[in-house]
Amino acid sequence: MAELMPTINHMTTQNLTSIPSVKSQTELAVMENHGCQSASLHDQKLPEVDLFSPLTIRDITIPNRVVMSPMCQYSAENGLANDWHFVHLGSRAVGGVGLIVVEATAVTAQGRITPADLGIWDDLHVEPLTRIVHFLRQQGAIAAIQLAHAGRKASTDVPWQGGAPLTPEQGGWPVVGPSPLPFHENGPVPTPLDTHGIKEVIQAFVSAVQRALQAGFQVIELHSAHGYLLHSFLSPLSNQRTDNYGGSLENRMRFLLELVENVREVLPNGIPLFVRLSATDWVEGGWDIEQSVILSRELKALGVDLVDASTGGLVPHARIPMETGYQVPFAAKIRKEAGIQTGAVGLITEAGYANEVITRGCADLVDIGRELLRDPYWSIRAQSVLGDEPDWPVPYGYAVQRRGRRK
Ligand SMILES: Cc1cc2nc3c(=O)[nH]c(=O)nc-3n(C[C@H](O)[C@H](O)[C@H](O)COP(=O)(O)O)c2cc1C
Repeated sequence: MAELMPTINHMTTQNLTSIPSVKSQTELAVMENHGCQSASLHDQKLPEVDLFSPLTIRDITIPNRVVMSPMCQYSAENGLANDWHFVHLGSRAVGGVGLIVVEATAVTAQGRITPADLGIWDDLHVEPLTRIVHFLRQQGAIAAIQLAHAGRKASTDVPWQGGAPLTPEQGGWPVVGPSPLPFHENGPVPTPLDTHGIKEVIQAFVSAVQRALQAGFQVIELHSAHGYLLHSFLSPLSNQRTDNYGGSLENRMRFLLELVENVREVLPNGIPLFVRLSATDWVEGGWDIEQSVILSRELKALGVDLVDASTGGLVPHARIPMETGYQVPFAAKIRKEAGIQTGAVGLITEAGYANEVITRGCADLVDIGRELLRDPYWSIRAQSVLGDEPDWPVPYGYAVQRRGRRK
């Protein structure tokens, strides 16, 4: 199943009003407490902070709080970035986005969602990524990459061809996970990773980080959301192991925490490390916001700088109440209770609302996904909407402003 938060694929804004019954009490409480920290210390200490203020994390200054959320393009061959990725990412840098996060990029060939995913398991992957990073940086954007392993959700067709699991005849491959529990009834049964397999995946992430640094990326994000390998170890619904990597919360967190420790060791101190979490599975008995807060504290202690707070994707039957900013309360709660910087994502489409997420102290960054697909210039337009002088790239700016004067 392809990366589009598959559990929410079929929901539309029409069914927002009915709060799904499978939603747990914890999630309801979080949703009700949607007010973030209005008039909080955040505002008092940093009254000047808004969507277009810079944010410095370690040695990296992100010029504004608008993030291009990682979005798989399923347009690579053998994991290699090409002109599609160059234009797709480059045009959002031209469009004024502060931080561009390259889509889920597989750390092993087996960890791809589809055969068309980007990859970084081989040195050959570095050069085309370097070209893209160079251009993003030239435009003043900060270049980030999301490193991923799809786990039990690997080996599927691309979404516009249905996203179904691929058979070996169609080029599919065996999938791995914490336990022999498939994502859907008809999906492939994952082979549980043994301790050696876990260590190999950790090493693959470490090598991927080294290649990403070679390509010039300035921020690394680990993908531990949407039901992929790292998330599937966290959730008791997909992890039913009885060894050190399953059972208690401490054991379920072990894989991700070991991975972070290993990654932080090879990352220069000045380079920020982000982790994308699904803050809840939206299913009773699954991973939830309380566990996410505990995990985020642990991540912070190991040198993670920011939690990018998404939700869902672990099981196909979760019902998610989609509405504007439906995941913002999760970013706000993690920020407040774990004391870590957060990114908010999910149906944030309007400049004014995105700005409020920042000014009210709900999150430190705002990830924009589909709205940036609709409009690569969303960020520049948002500047105008918020009353700032739009920051056009030089070759456009003089021309656009001249027309403005003639009006
Ligand atoms: C085409 C597409 C591909 C996506 N690929 C990824 C991905 O590679 N990694 C990820 O964490 N989320 C992925 N997502 C989820 C987005 O990053 C984002 O969290 C989600 O679309 C909600 O934000 P939005 O309402 O602004 O689109 C994808 C979403 C879309 C639409």
